[in-house]
Amino acid sequence: MLAKVISTGTFGIEAYPVEVEVNVSKVDFTGTALVGLPDAAVKESLERVRAAVTNSGYHFRTHRMTINLAPADMRKEGPSFDLPIAVAILTASEQIVAPKLEEYALTGELALDGRLRRVNGALSMALRCRQEGRRGIILPEENAEEAGVVEGIEVIPLRTLTEVVGFLTDHVVMESYRVDLAQALGASSHYEVDFSEVKGQEHIKRALTVAAAGGHNVLMIGPPGAGKSMLAQRLPTILPPMTIEEALETTKVYSVDGLMRAGQSLIATRPFRAPHHTVSEIGLAGGGAVPKPGEVSLSHHGVLFLDELPQFERRTLEVLRQPMEDGHVTISRARMTVTYPSQFMLIAALNPCPCGYLTDPKKECHCSPRQVQAYMGRISGPLLDRIDIQVEVPAVNYRDLRNPAEGEPSSIIRERVTRARDLQRARFKDTKTFCNARMNNRLLKKHCKIDGPAETVLSSAMQSFSLSARAYTKILKLSRTIADLDGAEEIRTEHVTEAIQYRSLDRNLWA
Ligand SMILES: Nc1ncnc2c1ncn2[C@@H]1O[C@H](COP(=O)(O)OP(=O)(O)O)[C@@H](O)[C@H]1O
Ligand SMILES: [Mg+2]
Ligand SMILES: [Zn+2]
Repeated sequence: MLAKVISTGTFGIEAYPVEVEVNVSKVDFTGTALVGLPDAAVKESLERVRAAVTNSGYHFRTHRMTINLAPADMRKEGPSFDLPIAVAILTASEQIVAPKLEEYALTGELALDGRLRRVNGALSMALRCRQEGRRGIILPEENAEEAGVVEGIEVIPLRTLTEVVGFLTDHVVMESYRVDLAQALGASSHYEVDFSEVKGQEHIKRALTVAAAGGHNVLMIGPPGAGKSMLAQRLPTILPPMTIEEALETTKVYSVDGLMRAGQSLIATRPFRAPHHTVSEIGLAGGGAVPKPGEVSLSHHGVLFLDELPQFERRTLEVLRQPMEDGHVTISRARMTVTYPSQFMLIAALNPCPCGYLTDPKKECHCSPRQVQAYMGRISGPLLDRIDIQVEVPAVNYRDLRNPAEGEPSSIIRERVTRARDLQRARFKDTKTFCNARMNNRLLKKHCKIDGPAETVLSSAMQSFSLSARAYTKILKLSRTIADLDGAEEIRTEHVTEAIQYRSLDRNLWA
């Protein structure tokens, strides 16, 4: 007979429904046929299903079976179809009768002994099942935490094929697994590091506060040991707390990539990713034969740190352009296009010269001006165009380092940043823009008016540093953010003066 089981596959970070159909012939003994473009993994699945079915005390018939995974035009990946295939086989061969099958979606990899193993993308799957109005989803116990945050459907975590059959035939009772979303968000929103650990460097902390407040990308230039990496790592801790929507979206990326830790329901702290400069284009932007999210997506709603910026291949950095512009990455394949979200703040660091000590008062630099210029010239122009703040991080002052007093904690800075972001959200509420850094020319004209003394300061800076038109816009945006941190409606002279300080490279300190 013919049996139909509902399952779900993932594509990008979204899930889509898959129907697993199995037909068992009563008269034909010519083996098994798999249809619906299953990849090698789904074929291997049949071997596991055979072992799991027999080791669970059922028969794997030798009658001809036709197994179809629909829709046929989607590539099915991964072992998550083991469980639905097994249950469909048991139903089609009339070993079980399970009317509940119509109401639940099934997903899970099978171990040879019939135990269920975790699958990737359980959060997206559960969300999709809710969207389709299903009663629930049956999945491996290890995926319970991830899927349990989805309200409005039953999340049934089970351990073995036998338990699944028991549940479907009303021999096993299992309550829906619930994770309180708000509670999970609160419980996992704690960072391991804090700004209070950074001594001194007040100027840089302020620059990072401005960056966080307006969503401005940052470039830090300074000698080795100045604390650039330490500062960068702490940028996520001063960004506004993640909203539930943001946490769910970032979690989906980690969930489809199989990166959730056991027992973890949500990614509720903003990610910090620091790929090595040898990272490949695919590693950075995502892609591959079986598409996977790259670093730009793993930093979604968080921070991407590029340390030793001149060491990255220009060609590799080129791939940042689309994700930075659009907030998502599109990966095209012959038959399909996958999209991953990629809204991140970029923070980059570099030494001021090849040896690193050009700006260090205590160590001597042996680089020639030509070497320094060649080194700085390696920074990709288009990338530099997307960076609003350029600051010099001086070697850390010994007295500051010895000072036992703690710096301002991240929580206080974060409150300041959050207030500034709230102002921006209200300002841009009818647009797609959400922070000052993303203002287009029209918004810039409307919200960054300056006149009187502020205007005089800016135009004289333009002249004395021969700033470009691009630098001018960046200074305006930064001034807007600094005014927002100040709670000021109008951009004033002191806001502009501070903004000009964040354009170190434009001020030709190196040329
Ligand atoms: N301002 C600072 N306050 C406290 N410790 C610091 C500070 N700056 C540097 N350090 C210490 O020096 C180490 C090296 O700093 P790091 O961030 O790796 O420098 P960089 O990335 O600029 O080479 C840090 O791990 C930290 O222990
Ligand atoms: Mg470093
Ligand atoms: Zn040097």
